[in-house]
Amino acid sequence: MPMGKNIISTKPTTTEDTNRRKFLLWLSSLGLFGSAVISVVSNLVFIKPRATYGQPNRFSVGKPDDYPPGTRIALDNHRICIVREENKIAAVSTTCTHLGCIVGLSETGFACPCHGSRFDQDGNVTGGPAPKPLAWYKINLAPNGELEVDKDAEINAGTYLNL
Ligand code: FES
Repeated sequence: MPMGKNIISTKPTTTEDTNRRKFLLWLSSLGLFGSAVISVVSNLVFIKPRATYGQPNRFSVGKPDDYPPGTRIALDNHRICIVREENKIAAVSTTCTHLGCIVGLSETGFACPCHGSRFDQDGNVTGGPAPKPLAWYKINLAPNGELEVDKDAEINAGTYLNL
């Protein structure tokens, strides 16, 4: 065969050849589409963080007026109880110091439904297996007028925020 010459097939294209080409075109398009879908899905999987985070330890619990004087209001979602005296307020943990159940409010303070630990109004142990008192957390009045509790900052029992 002479060099530099283009070869043009003189064989006529049949319907079978056309169908094969269409099939191969469809197959390669399907492959491209599939790899695009896999690429997008895998990128989304990697973009979404795998780590899950619990609730923040510093959070707002509303305004002082939400807690009338002389009340104790349990916020189970935060595992604290807001104790409001006339002009002072505090945040006491409602996590039992025995095995971590949420204590409920009782006439005399707090009572744990799990193994019967009891605490007085200040969170001191008065009965049951709990090894230590309930924690008190720092509570501040934020510039926006809302109370902010910091569960990373334990304070001495009986330490209220003066309003
Ligand atoms: S967890 Fe509260 S008494 Fe055991």
